[in-house]
Amino acid sequence: MGDIDTEAHALALDEADPLREFRNEFHIPRHGDAEQAYFCGNSLGLQPKAVRGALIDELDDWANLGVEGHFLGKHPWMPYHEFVRESLAACVGAMPSEVVAMNSLSVNLHLMMVSFYRPTPQRHAILIEAGAFPSDRYAVESQVRFHGFDPATSLIELEADEPGGTISMQAIERVLAERGSEIALVLWPGVQYRSGQAFDLKEIARLAQVQGCVAGFDLAHGAGNRVLDLHDSGADFAAWCSYKYLNSGPGAVAGCFVHERHARSDRPRFAGWWGHDQATRFRMGPEFIPTPGADGWQLSNPPILALAPLRVSLEIFQRAGMAALREKSIRLTGYLESLIQQRLADVLDIATPSDATRRGCQLSLRVIGGRERGRALFEHLSSAGIIGDWREPDVIRISPTPLYNRHADVLRFVRAVEAWRGS
Ligand SMILES: Cc1ncc(COP(=O)(O)O)c(C=O)c1O
Repeated sequence: MGDIDTEAHALALDEADPLREFRNEFHIPRHGDAEQAYFCGNSLGLQPKAVRGALIDELDDWANLGVEGHFLGKHPWMPYHEFVRESLAACVGAMPSEVVAMNSLSVNLHLMMVSFYRPTPQRHAILIEAGAFPSDRYAVESQVRFHGFDPATSLIELEADEPGGTISMQAIERVLAERGSEIALVLWPGVQYRSGQAFDLKEIARLAQVQGCVAGFDLAHGAGNRVLDLHDSGADFAAWCSYKYLNSGPGAVAGCFVHERHARSDRPRFAGWWGHDQATRFRMGPEFIPTPGADGWQLSNPPILALAPLRVSLEIFQRAGMAALREKSIRLTGYLESLIQQRLADVLDIATPSDATRRGCQLSLRVIGGRERGRALFEHLSSAGIIGDWREPDVIRISPTPLYNRHADVLRFVRAVEAWRGS
């Protein structure tokens, strides 16, 4: 263990990495003559090289075929979302009929809440974590108000009860035992965006449902990061974006999961023609008959140019396999953690849990000495081509991702922090 901070050690680990070739499938942004050490897959994943060709194919089909591209294109547009179904399902541990690629994350959360947040005077509250991602908070608060309830009494925000700002399962169990009869919906993150804490979704779904609550998950930071088992977890619904770990480009088409037990046509929803029974959609009748499964929540015909990168990216995940990716991810983030503990304990506090089952690839790092010092370190890293991100008031998020990060990148980060400390 003594020599883990040498270049030779990092290079040997990279050499032994069975997934090392996948890095070549991505454009790594440049920093002068070198490549960046890019640790920002938690915000925007890097571009797979094959995306450009996939987009050109669609532009060519549009140019050459016009409307006939719907049926005659290389990847016909009419069933285009089908091309991502299997790989999307594999990525989140769902049955193919339980997932659909559509819209964006916040839109899908609203669509899911239209169907699954059905408050009554007795059971009207939504439970989220305190410090939830602002869009999620805005979404749940607006849903509460939309139904005529008051967020002061109908929005429950569970405070962190662990030292680093994380939340124990006991705290979740406690609030559900105490207030479960008021709670209509538990909307919980798969991985919390600020702390990097991962949660046991199956257990949360169980605890929620025992109390008669619906369990929905925001997997913005979970999809493509952790091994997910949505079907078996018993989640009622889930939604995620695809521009982070799923590497599908800025504003990419998001994903949505509806458990098969809810794939009934009498489930209330906001409807659009693309959710209509496919067999009769083009009869253009006035009555909405939902197509079975998650597809029945689609509103519009899908944006092909935005789906093409998702198709390419999910194909990479299929080849790599989520289990193998996660194995590497645990090693890579563990390497970062060990180096910080050994070399940088006087500079950085790790806020993310140390137990690999309670985190994904991200480590949230608090800079000892406060916000100004933290900002200075963050600027130093950025100017050295080491790309993480900053979350107010004091967190640098560093997310080594198994598809394109190396142990050598991690060591570069550590060396840069050491150089800054010594400067
Ligand atoms: C946890 C979480 N929820 C919601 C969102 C909002 O996503 P979108 O802008 O795709 O709706 C994000 C974006 O980063 C997020 O991290």
